[in-house]
Amino acid sequence: MADWLAALDRRADLRAKAGLTRRLHPRAADETVTDLAGNDYLGLATHPEVTAAAARALSAYGLGATGSRLVRGSTDAHHALEDALADWIGTDRALVFSSGYLANLGALRALVQPRTLLVSDAHNHASLIDGCRISGAETVVTPHADVTAVADALAAAPGRPAVVVTESVFSVDGDLAPLARLHAVARRHGALLLVDDAHALGVTGPAGAGGVAAAGLAGEPDVVVTATLSKALGGAGGLVAGPAEFVRHLVETGRTFIFDTALPPAVAAGVHTAVGLARAGEHLRAELAERAALAVARLAAAGLTVSAPDAGVISVTAPGPEAATAWAADCRDRGVAVGCFRPPSTPDTRSRLRLTINAGVPRTDFERALEVIVEVAP
Ligand SMILES: Cc1ncc(COP(=O)(O)O)c(C=O)c1O
Repeated sequence: MADWLAALDRRADLRAKAGLTRRLHPRAADETVTDLAGNDYLGLATHPEVTAAAARALSAYGLGATGSRLVRGSTDAHHALEDALADWIGTDRALVFSSGYLANLGALRALVQPRTLLVSDAHNHASLIDGCRISGAETVVTPHADVTAVADALAAAPGRPAVVVTESVFSVDGDLAPLARLHAVARRHGALLLVDDAHALGVTGPAGAGGVAAAGLAGEPDVVVTATLSKALGGAGGLVAGPAEFVRHLVETGRTFIFDTALPPAVAAGVHTAVGLARAGEHLRAELAERAALAVARLAAAGLTVSAPDAGVISVTAPGPEAATAWAADCRDRGVAVGCFRPPSTPDTRSRLRLTINAGVPRTDFERALEVIVEVAP
């Protein structure tokens, strides 16, 4: 075998010994599993109005965008979606990207000038970590949700441009960032605040407008919001929202906007319909919150270590990576899909099951799924 392939095999063996093998498993269109693994918080991915809007745009525009918007043109579907997103989140403008990952890479790179300091939370998502790295800026990683450490990092770089980088609902443990206090500290030091609202948009805040809106920071001139369109909005793509000048800067200089084929118009049209349903989805958010509280109560009563039900993400600590893998496989065998998070997908050495609450799953199936988890994770 060629040397480089043998080297890859050795690395796979090491991962297997550490219980960190990752395997694809099949998903059928007519599957009957109860979904506590995906991020379709409001059940909109399969909503008939969403899929019908996407189908109409699909026959009008075809499968793909066929190029970047600067090269191939910018459709009504993109503009209507961006206007709806900016209006909902409460920012001047919004720009959509082909994924949330690329939105974060693009936003961070565009925020960096010579001598910029990035101050990044230790639990930030991989796309924010990679965005900091790719930006080339000096990055200080502060302990999780530690506002004093952020203040200290900013105070140690007087006169330098700086950006504080955080998620609003953290993607592994589902806890909330202290956004109002982070913003106060950032403003005191003349720094910007970038918030990834991926797990909050549609789930928290007034009319589901997200964590930034919930903290009363929507439209602040020193706040930039990023998010994905693939979670509560049930589609795909990412967004950056903020002042009009920043969005213009992204259109003209953002590498992950310019050198990337645009979000397919059909997806933009489907997500636009999902925005309207999410805004009006107070009943779905109430159901989601009630289920999150129920899940935590049931699993904690069974002796499991569970995170708080702050939003729609709940993490259940496993004794190790092998146990997490076995628990997730047992759940799957019994018709329940859960997330299995092991290092390096976790911010520490703890392996977990990650449950994401989907308000669209029938209530009896959801309650049965909790019983299955209690039985497989003693
Ligand atoms: C916090 C966070 N940011 C960004 C992303 C990336 O979004 P996308 O899947 O649209 O690339 C994800 C998850 O997928 C996420 O959880």
